[in-house]
Parts: sequence; structure tokens; C-alpha cells
Amino acid sequence: MEKSISKLLENNKSWAIRKKNNDPDFFNDLANGQSPDYLWIGCSDSRVPAEVITGAKPGELFVHRNIANMVVHSDMNLLSVLSYAVEVLKVKHIIVCGHYECGGVMAAMGNKQYGLIDNWLRHIKDVYRYHHKELDSISDTNTRARRFVELNVTEQVRDLGKSSIVQNAWKKKQSLHIHGWVYDIKDGVINDLKVSATSPEDLHAVYHLDNEIETVKVK
Ligand code: CO
Repeated sequence: MEKSISKLLENNKSWAIRKKNNDPDFFNDLANGQSPDYLWIGCSDSRVPAEVITGAKPGELFVHRNIANMVVHSDMNLLSVLSYAVEVLKVKHIIVCGHYECGGVMAAMGNKQYGLIDNWLRHIKDVYRYHHKELDSISDTNTRARRFVELNVTEQVRDLGKSSIVQNAWKKKQSLHIHGWVYDIKDGVINDLKVSATSPEDLHAVYHLDNEIETVKVK
């Protein structure tokens, strides 16, 4: 086996031993089930590991990561994670955490063709279009990219609120807060954008959904 890969397995063995030595019940407790309070939706970027940068322990974060931390409302993967986190685990907070220097966001700002991924980046380009007046007025490319990262996170927070899953939780008075954060790779600090969604009132009325659909009875 390639040396660098076997190193990961060696690290894992020593980690497991260390954990068990520190707390003999550590793995038994985790094996009993999970009840995380947080759903983390972050970028796949290797420099933004959710648990490491937040000091979270195993069992504390339910995690979904994709390129540029997108909430695409027809993405079965995202919807399944969201549904399980909200309806079964009943997480209290959803954190959308973007990051400055995001390759996905920067690629979406440009016109270069990359392949299949261009179809994913389209969702980010749509965010640019919603905010083109503000973004086009920023002449410095780096400043514009940073602002685009923040606006992208803001839109994903709103997109979560638009989902039937989140709206039904709010209807049931389930405590569920959505937060937008941006991590800075250059200094390791998370910037809380203070954009949040806690009720349908945070969304344009066109996105409000009435009560859950009634089950259709087959005669
Ligand atoms: Co990224």
C-alpha cells in the first residue's frame, strides 16, 4: 500500500487507542446512537474540516458537504440529509458555513469551462445574478469574491427556509434556527454573518407553504 495511505490507517489505530484510554466508554456511548444538535452544511474543501475548526466531538455535528456549500432544492442527497436531521434527529440549529477563497465560488465568478461541474456552478452563478448590482459595483476582484462568498451563504440560508422540510418543522413549532457563517482560511476564524432564518417571515411571501398536504386515500 502507498505509504501516505497506510499512514492514515496507522493514525486511526493510535487515535482509537488514545480515545479508549482516555475514556473507556467513549465508543460504547457513541455506539448507543446519535443526537446531534447541529446540522453542518459546508464546502467539500479539504481546508475546512467541520469538527476540527469548531472543536466539535464525534456525535455533535451531523454533516453534509458539497462544492461551495450549496442548498440545491432538487438535490436528493441534500434533501435526505436535511429531512433526517430535522425530522428524525430534530437538530436545533442548521449552520451553512462557506469560506473565503472558495474555488467553487471563484470559478462561478468567471467564464472558464471546467466540465460537468459547470452545471453545479450554475446554481452559484444564479446567486451572482440576484446580487449583480452590488457585486458588479465592487471593482477589486478579491473584495468582490469575498462578498460573493457571503452572499452565497446568505442565499443558501434562505433556500433552507424555503424548503418544505424546514417550513413544516416551523409549523410544528419545532425549535430550528438557521445560521450563515463564513470561515476565513487565512486566519482560521469564522465570521458570523448574522443572517438567520427562524420563521417563514424571513422569506418573501411567495415561498410560504400552507399546511402539509393531506394524504390521498386510494379507494
Ligand atoms: Co469551497
